[in-house]
Amino acid sequence: MNAKPHVAVVGATGAVGIEMIKTLEKRSFPVGKLTLLASARSVGKRLRFRGEDYVVQELTRESFRGIDLALFSAGGGISKEYAPLAVQAGCVVVDNSSAFRMDPAVPLVVPEVNGADVAAHKGIIANPNCTTAITLMALYPLHQAFGVKRILASSYQAVSGTGAKAIEELRRQSEQIVHRQAVTREVYPYQIAFNVIPQVDSFLSSGYTKEEMKMENEGRKIMHHPEFRASVTCVRVPVYRAHSVAVSAEFERPVVLEVARAVLSRAPGLELWDDPAKQLYPVPMVVAEMDNCVVGRLRLDCALENGLCFWVVGDQLLKGAALNAVQIAERLVEPA
Ligand code: A2P
Repeated sequence: MNAKPHVAVVGATGAVGIEMIKTLEKRSFPVGKLTLLASARSVGKRLRFRGEDYVVQELTRESFRGIDLALFSAGGGISKEYAPLAVQAGCVVVDNSSAFRMDPAVPLVVPEVNGADVAAHKGIIANPNCTTAITLMALYPLHQAFGVKRILASSYQAVSGTGAKAIEELRRQSEQIVHRQAVTREVYPYQIAFNVIPQVDSFLSSGYTKEEMKMENEGRKIMHHPEFRASVTCVRVPVYRAHSVAVSAEFERPVVLEVARAVLSRAPGLELWDDPAKQLYPVPMVVAEMDNCVVGRLRLDCALENGLCFWVVGDQLLKGAALNAVQIAERLVEPA
């Protein structure tokens, strides 16, 4: 790829799109030219990049002429329709939606885990599910040390994972409650303010949600571990930003706590904050806007053979989306 590519952000006005633009700037990605694309509703809106205003344009079938690299985050429907057109126009796509993740011809990449898979792309590289990416940041180094068999996990997922409308819903409902007004609801099936909702994404016939099964399906592909099993309950919580995941993992080999600590403290993109005596562990309010994920609450699992429990928190707009996408893009522009 061109060393200074013409980059397009598709869904530039969305919760993830805005973070993509900020991340390109923060990491000094070698953007030659920038094009911001969204729906007709946003045409003319201005967004800042490196101190300059860029005017948002409408996404059309012709948008990708002359573009080298497109970061997509406008939902699965838009990706399915427009990513193939972008590839036809000679563009490489990093797609944040679930549209292509399980396609065997499309690499699904967390750079700290399987960055080398980027090289096999045929035009599209998929960015994983946010909860899966954050979990793997801690699970994969442990897998390398002890060999993971399966995990049981519960997620505590922030509303920004649903997008800009859900951020507004939590803000509005909190204000309505404080002012003793009737609570209105548009995005979630129940009030999210002062509540938790055990549903993220739609239900499958098994009783799990689609989001819950992403951990096993995407985890297998990213870790190159077809026997990996994951039973997950995904829960939406009234947190603006950063997902938390409580994990009980069972390994092939006995876990030595001190080895687990050493492995996690050296893992790239991960920090270990774990000192119960000082009440030190990660919480979403502190981890929000951090590039690194943070793991804590390490303990040997009292109910599993060779088991370890941990609590991992990550900003799902960053490591779970925009940062991971830009890290993939960095591999594309690296000299071979
Ligand atoms: P817009 O702001 O113009 O609606 P979020 O996940 O935060 O809701 O953001 C979704 C992103 O996807 C926004 O940038 C949104 O643009 C964009 N988007 C949604 N529908 C379309 C569409 N039909 N064409 C292009 N972009 C779209």
